[in-house]
Amino acid sequence: MKRIMITGAGGQLGLALQRLLKGQAEYELFRTDAVANEVGSIHALDITKQEEVNDYIENIKPEIIINCAAFTAVDLCESEPEKAYQINALGPKYLAMAAEKTKAVLVHVSTDYVFDGQGSVPYTEESATNPISVYGKTKQAGDEFVREHCSNSFILRTAWVYGEGKNFVKTMLRLAQTNPKIRVVADQYGTPTSALELARAIVYLIGTESYGTYHATCEGSTTWYEFAVEIFKEAGVDVEVEAITTKEYPTPAKRPMYSILDNKALRERHGYYMKDWKDAFKEYCKEH
Ligand SMILES: NC(=O)c1ccc[n+]([C@@H]2O[C@H](COP(=O)([O-])OP(=O)(O)OC[C@H]3O[C@@H](n4cnc5c(N)ncnc54)[C@H](OP(=O)(O)O)[C@@H]3O)[C@@H](O)[C@H]2O)c1
Repeated sequence: MKRIMITGAGGQLGLALQRLLKGQAEYELFRTDAVANEVGSIHALDITKQEEVNDYIENIKPEIIINCAAFTAVDLCESEPEKAYQINALGPKYLAMAAEKTKAVLVHVSTDYVFDGQGSVPYTEESATNPISVYGKTKQAGDEFVREHCSNSFILRTAWVYGEGKNFVKTMLRLAQTNPKIRVVADQYGTPTSALELARAIVYLIGTESYGTYHATCEGSTTWYEFAVEIFKEAGVDVEVEAITTKEYPTPAKRPMYSILDNKALRERHGYYMKDWKDAFKEYCKEH
């Protein structure tokens, strides 16, 4: 039986992974997520504390560590760059060093925001990165630390993730309860990816020793506007959706205008395909 440690287990991806792995006889799970206390909540394992990370990993001795912990509030990262660097860059570095020391495999999750979005064809794993936000820059730094410090590591770049927790789907449905018309950006291109599909790709990869960087998004592409239209269609919600431009919806963090990822390594090295984004979204709707 292999021991798997999941950091950030209470987040969208962490929850999806637990759902897939629970009950699989070949894996024993160790999850570290937030625990409630009198002042709110604390992380049972704070990945920004190197000693805690080392102690935990040396004590548990997992064969596989899956890092789902991150500071994912993209706009907040702009005003809290130090915190973003600690969680998105130093946390993965400490995990990578501890994994190397204990000969564990590290799975680390990254983002389409490492690209600047100026491209016009899907980005492959070899495409040049050039992050344009604090979130993107700190995630990129985390990826580099993982490559530098852990020989047996997988880095999966994903995008537009929705699962259990805060996400675009939930935001749209909440807004529709009080607004007859919703304005959504229609000039940013990407691929909505269900946390469950991403978790499936991770579970597939940990069954291999084919380490490296992978793009792992659902197939196909769309805009936030078209995704919103699809959400309301699937949910049977009658609301007007207005297409607007990025300029009409200013945010603290710059987003890549085009961040479609090509899952080239999954396809060419493994013949592995993720679901089309609309099919994955239908599956999600059935379950929620
Ligand atoms: N969401 C997306 O659209 C998206 C897109 C591209 C890539 N990704 C990447 O995919 C991965 C999973 O994302 P997700 O959507 O599942 O994120 P999420 O729902 O925001 O979950 C992140 C988890 O990390 C925990 N965390 C934060 N700081 C921590 C720390 N110092 N120590 C330990 N845990 C900490 C959070 O706990 P608290 O909430 O209690 O702080 C939360 O449970 C991340 O690497 C993210 O960068 C996400």
